[in-house]
Amino acid sequence: MSSTIKQNKNDISSLSNFDEIKQLRYNVDLFIDFDAKKLSGNVEIEFNVINKNVKSVFLDNMELTIFKCQLINKKNGSLEELKYVIHTENPFKSSLGTPLEIMLPENIETEKIYVKIDFETKSSCDGLLWLNKEQTETKNFPYVFSQCQAILCRSVLPCQDTPNAKVYFDKVSLTVEEGINALFGGQFESKENVKLDFCKEKNFTKFIYTQKICIQTYLFAFAAGEIMYQKVSERCGVYAEKGIIDKAVKEFNDMEVMLKAAEEYIDYPYIWGDYNILFLPQGFPYGGMENPNITFLNQALLVGDKSMAPTIAHEMAHSWTGNLVTNKDWNNFWMNEGFTVFLERKIMQILHGQDLFLLESNVGMDELTYAIKSVGETHNYSCMHPHINDENPDDAFSVVPYEKGFNLLYYIEQLIGDNIFRDIFRKYIKEFAFKSVEYMDFRNLLESELKKLGKLELISVVDWDSWIYKPGKIPIDTNFSSESGNNAKKLFEDIINSQDLSNLTEFQKVYNSMYSISKIVFLNLFLNNISGLKEKNYELLKKITNLNEKEECNNAEINYTWFQVALKMKDKDSYVPALEFVSKQGRMKYIRPVFIQLYRYDRVSTRKFFDEHKFKWHSVPVRLIESEFEKIDKEN
Ligand code: BES
Ligand code: ZN
Repeated sequence: MSSTIKQNKNDISSLSNFDEIKQLRYNVDLFIDFDAKKLSGNVEIEFNVINKNVKSVFLDNMELTIFKCQLINKKNGSLEELKYVIHTENPFKSSLGTPLEIMLPENIETEKIYVKIDFETKSSCDGLLWLNKEQTETKNFPYVFSQCQAILCRSVLPCQDTPNAKVYFDKVSLTVEEGINALFGGQFESKENVKLDFCKEKNFTKFIYTQKICIQTYLFAFAAGEIMYQKVSERCGVYAEKGIIDKAVKEFNDMEVMLKAAEEYIDYPYIWGDYNILFLPQGFPYGGMENPNITFLNQALLVGDKSMAPTIAHEMAHSWTGNLVTNKDWNNFWMNEGFTVFLERKIMQILHGQDLFLLESNVGMDELTYAIKSVGETHNYSCMHPHINDENPDDAFSVVPYEKGFNLLYYIEQLIGDNIFRDIFRKYIKEFAFKSVEYMDFRNLLESELKKLGKLELISVVDWDSWIYKPGKIPIDTNFSSESGNNAKKLFEDIINSQDLSNLTEFQKVYNSMYSISKIVFLNLFLNNISGLKEKNYELLKKITNLNEKEECNNAEINYTWFQVALKMKDKDSYVPALEFVSKQGRMKYIRPVFIQLYRYDRVSTRKFFDEHKFKWHSVPVRLIESEFEKIDKEN
């Protein structure tokens, strides 16, 4: 009765058949059950029938429990039960999930059909992180949040989980215990007190949201906990737990200025309404996630000196590149991230000048060099456009698409000039807003615009094939040197060339006067040249920075770079502080590379520590760190 499972040819990371019957509108009604750590409820999906002979709807699914599937008759509101099957055994189950196939009645005559699915999540849902009261700031209520990018929306609700078929979330209801605030990436409509049949003694609140702009399923996002709100400008505001909200507002009160700078560069208004940020508890696995109307952010960004502002600029920039113009599939991920890094750095350049632009690009290039080395210079994942087949796209995640993408765009900008580039960027956004794109969409537009201007030859030197499809280094030389960057380099060289500790105080003074970003440039020089670092020079560096000391530095970007250097140098004084560091962080960027070095330093006790603490971290970093351990085990 059931058909075989296929990867969709228009997005190989989806096992749904959105090319035959395509999702358009969702109503979602969920009860957030903190006691059982699960969501339960239903979705109603409106589909456009593309192929009249379609026999079933395939929806992506990862470990959901399905109770009932029904066809809704929109004329009279009646419901007809539909047969369904979950393909628990299929060749892609470990990476792409176990799709739900719903059999449709024969001879569908309408162009639209409406399906309702009753379901619940398991307590070990990959797209959600459930936190106990003790893991929160105020410790009064538990907390939960979702992280659906890249392909985890299918673990939260049955859907065609692809960025290639955008949908409207007409109505999203979230019901929670009284006292808890439930947020959704959309516009707030209303809230009301409700009673639930199965729990008469407690009071509950039902929050209702809508998302009026079509979005991709990976942007479906919610969080619930004891969360407060403070407005900082007409359009912008901050959500956070009570203990950190003041700090958060102080650190990021200039969001409005950034938003205006972005609007001006792109010449396209911010169309989403409000722009809010939410600071999540420690387990959040990324620096930021561009959920619509409510960017999710990592608390580690609250360092007190505004040096993490580029991360907000980045998530804000996704409001155009990513959320309006979207990668068609995960091989084209650089179309989201490369363009966004470019825009992020433009915003920083407009607001803070060229030195910062160059420093950020410099750090990006150092991280790219390091990532290519770690992934492997000939490995598919070191391509800007990898060929992810049936792997989980999260496995391919690294800075490669970010920084290669940025460098390609910056290179083109240098070739054709800032103004022409900006005009073409603007055209690109206008042309592809609300759509999903692949690389040739951009290249065709670029070429046809330059042709109109009679300037096509300006980009004749671009070796597209190498940029897009070749692994390893980018095909050009770059130069992001800046005054601050040169100062960092000078100190690096002075230390490398020192014979003793005689200049310690002087070097310390220089180091302490550096901005955070310069310190990162400085430490990356050691990380990328570790084989040339002698023991005695490392000792000098250690004394200068003092970064094994607990309270020395609250900037995780600096700390995670330091611990990699220290552990690579087998510094026994760094092992315990590094463990303490990772135990307090959730961001994959920090914990994954530090765990790799910790494991290389001491496998047995690192593994034990990891197992004891892993309940704190999100499923994606946990899976990836475990696979790093396995790789190291195989090394010898
Ligand atoms: N959309 C990404 C985060 C993401 C990517 C989550 C892929 C899941 C799968 C977000 O915009 C991002 O790029 N975050 C960066 C921020 C940085 C580039 C400033 C991060 O978390 O490191
Ligand atoms: Zn991004």
